Amino acid sequence: MKTLILAGGKGTRLWPLSRELMPKQFIRIFDDTSLFQKTVERALLFSKPKEIFIVTNKEYHFRVFDELRDMGIDIPEENVLLEPVGKNTLPAIYWGIRTINENFGKSKVAVLPSDHLVEVNEKYTDAFKKAEKLAEAYFVTFGVKPTKPHTGYGYIKPGEKLEVGYKVAEFKEKPDLETAKKYVEEGYYWNSGMFMFDTELFIEEVKKLTPDVYKAFEEAKSIEEAYEMVPDISVDYGIMEKTDKAAVVPLNVYWNDLGSFDSIYEAFKKDQNGNAVRIRGLKAEYIGIDSNNNLIITERLTATVGVRDLIIIDTGDALLVASRGEGQKVKLVYEKLKEKN
Ligand code: GDD
Ligand code: MG
Repeated sequence: MKTLILAGGKGTRLWPLSRELMPKQFIRIFDDTSLFQKTVERALLFSKPKEIFIVTNKEYHFRVFDELRDMGIDIPEENVLLEPVGKNTLPAIYWGIRTINENFGKSKVAVLPSDHLVEVNEKYTDAFKKAEKLAEAYFVTFGVKPTKPHTGYGYIKPGEKLEVGYKVAEFKEKPDLETAKKYVEEGYYWNSGMFMFDTELFIEEVKKLTPDVYKAFEEAKSIEEAYEMVPDISVDYGIMEKTDKAAVVPLNVYWNDLGSFDSIYEAFKKDQNGNAVRIRGLKAEYIGIDSNNNLIITERLTATVGVRDLIIIDTGDALLVASRGEGQKVKLVYEKLKEKN
């Protein structure tokens, strides 16, 4: 199995932890390995270093290589594909799959976003083995059981039962709240954002369903030109919503897309007062008096007295204080900052 890692996203809802040159996938949120490095570790479960490909933005070139070197992993330099500009996930996946097909011929490819938290255990590896079987005939998604009607995800309705997993009866990307509520009640899955594709099948389907993407890469004389021509489109809208060859393999492990500080709070261990605290750096420390259910990420001595349900993020040069539950709005801060600069 080959692996394609997507590492070109921006992640604007985690300011000030994430910055233009430090998007979510490179942050060390939980420990001293970044989410990108954790993704490479997952890729190594099924692929040799030379079978791992990474599509990222050219701005993250050095960071990607630094992180790989840090891990002591020898992924060939030419396996790191540098996009001149981000055009969302379909062009990134198409370029990656096309490159893998050129290098290895028809292959099964696990596509992994690099900014999630995924629990790795036997259920995880089992799901990938099942998906590999299905990928001969299907575009395979990994379905997670929803816990709330989140509008930032894709929703999958399982249909006819297959030897492993199900045919997809419907794939709907980012529905509105009303629809999401209905889907949760009706037993839809969340799309985890991970996929398993067969290179030849995928290229054929892109040619059929999104010919503009296919043409950009076939006709352009350079990658720069291809990225000028290619439309900005996600694999979810471009392929998964349209294809009649999608399947879903249920993935029964802890999964969190860490899309906002609210989901980071959920993912962290809490102390006896419900505070989720991450101290970064040697000089930092946290003292809480009568403080409950807060998320605190700090690089210096920080104390709170009598506060609850806050998000407090201190990176030394910037400080964010927000109410828990308002994490989605942090991207507005990022947008304001962009306007100013
Ligand atoms: N190379 C590259 N280029 N990578 C990209 C680009 C790009 O232009 N845009 C996004 N990515 C990477 C991100 O870094 C992330 O790892 C992954 O592709 C997914 O992109 P997101 O932008 O985070 O997608 P999303 O969260 O809105 O939606 C997707 O993920 C959800 C689960 O978290 C969809 O697949 C949904 O259906 C799914 O539920
Ligand atoms: Mg995402």
